[in-house]
Amino acid sequence: MAKKRNIIVGQSGGPTSVINSSLAGVYKNAIERGFDKVYGMLHGIQGLLDEQYIDLSTQIHSELDIELLKRTPSAFLGSCRFKLPEIHENKEIYEKIFDILNKLEIEAFIYIGGNDSMDTIKKLSDYAILTGHTQKFLGVPKTIDNDLALTDHTPGFGSAAKYIGASTKEVIRDAEGLTYKKNMITIMEIMGRNAGWLTGATALAKQEDCEGPDLIYLPEIAFDVDKFLEKVKELLKKKSSIVIAVSEGIKLADGRYVGELGSMGDYVDAFGHKQLTGTATYLANFLQGEIGCKTRAVELSTLQRSASHMASRVDIDEAFMVGGAAVKAADEGDTGKMVVIDRISDDPYMSATGIYDVHRIANEEKLVPRNWVNKEGNYVTEDFIDYIRPLIQGDYQPIMVNGLPRHLVLNTGRQTTRKRGK
Ligand code: F6P
Repeated sequence: MAKKRNIIVGQSGGPTSVINSSLAGVYKNAIERGFDKVYGMLHGIQGLLDEQYIDLSTQIHSELDIELLKRTPSAFLGSCRFKLPEIHENKEIYEKIFDILNKLEIEAFIYIGGNDSMDTIKKLSDYAILTGHTQKFLGVPKTIDNDLALTDHTPGFGSAAKYIGASTKEVIRDAEGLTYKKNMITIMEIMGRNAGWLTGATALAKQEDCEGPDLIYLPEIAFDVDKFLEKVKELLKKKSSIVIAVSEGIKLADGRYVGELGSMGDYVDAFGHKQLTGTATYLANFLQGEIGCKTRAVELSTLQRSASHMASRVDIDEAFMVGGAAVKAADEGDTGKMVVIDRISDDPYMSATGIYDVHRIANEEKLVPRNWVNKEGNYVTEDFIDYIRPLIQGDYQPIMVNGLPRHLVLNTGRQTTRKRGK
């Protein structure tokens, strides 16, 4: 009997509102390219190690399901933050993974994730080459943080930026209505860990009908509490409502997170990343103590990566495109690589896919260049805004049911191949 041509796909790391569009792109292209089965890892490589997977044909039955999947936020298959050990540290774990892949007759392994997840593709492709396994390993970029190297931008970023830009306008509008004869300071905390791409996206709010945020602080630049206080006092002489955007990851010159001055906990994930939270709350309380006016902290938290009702069409389409490109690359024999997005032109905006060795991408971080931040280190430049603007364009109408967007969710009743979990 002819050997089966099966493919397996997983999702890993922090979710985005378009990560499922990449999954849809993988599925659709795999079917069109004649793969027999498309398996989905449940909770990425961590779930696969427990033999948690499904046959995606038990979940996706129609073009409408594909369209729903493209509009469904968070990881449809479940995600994980799981670091594979170095090959020499624990060969058994690799043997176990390849036993499962062989059993499922997997020809291509596609992983949708960020820089930590590309570490998985790097290690698995290295191990396959080292041990003569023939499976192909391909990475599909994903992260709201936009911090992956060698790609113009990452799927997930444009939609998060669009939501952040719109929310910033709404926060500014709300605050300015309540400042008759009194001052008000609002601090917005934005995700992005060490990279300020998303925090800078608050500047998108600056349009004909909105002044935009007053100050923007990125994690790339050391945060000086005294200078910050001085700047806020200076601004309050000119206007009564001030809106300030800060990254969750802003740090003092000594390397401590500003959030650590407040109530940030000690939780650290498998990659050694501290859970960042409480920066806006700390600064809002600090300013209230120093200035004595009303302050408010707005932490956008997970909303910024799951607001699929506000996703950008460019982003959803590109997420789908990179999923499909990974299948094509694997089918043509590539391995140990990640698909990237190349910007072809800005006006009209056009992009295409490229491909790079994952060793040049895994565990690297692309930060905002210094010349895209003003001299004082408290705002982004026009070049920065011009770079993001094309990525937030267009919409996908959510499929509304009873007044709310409908999502495609894993139907455990429909599963045929999932082994009961531990
Ligand atoms: O990696 C994407 C990201 O959204 C970061 O911006 C953020 O710091 C992190 O995930 C939060 O992760 P978690 O939801 O696991 O706390």
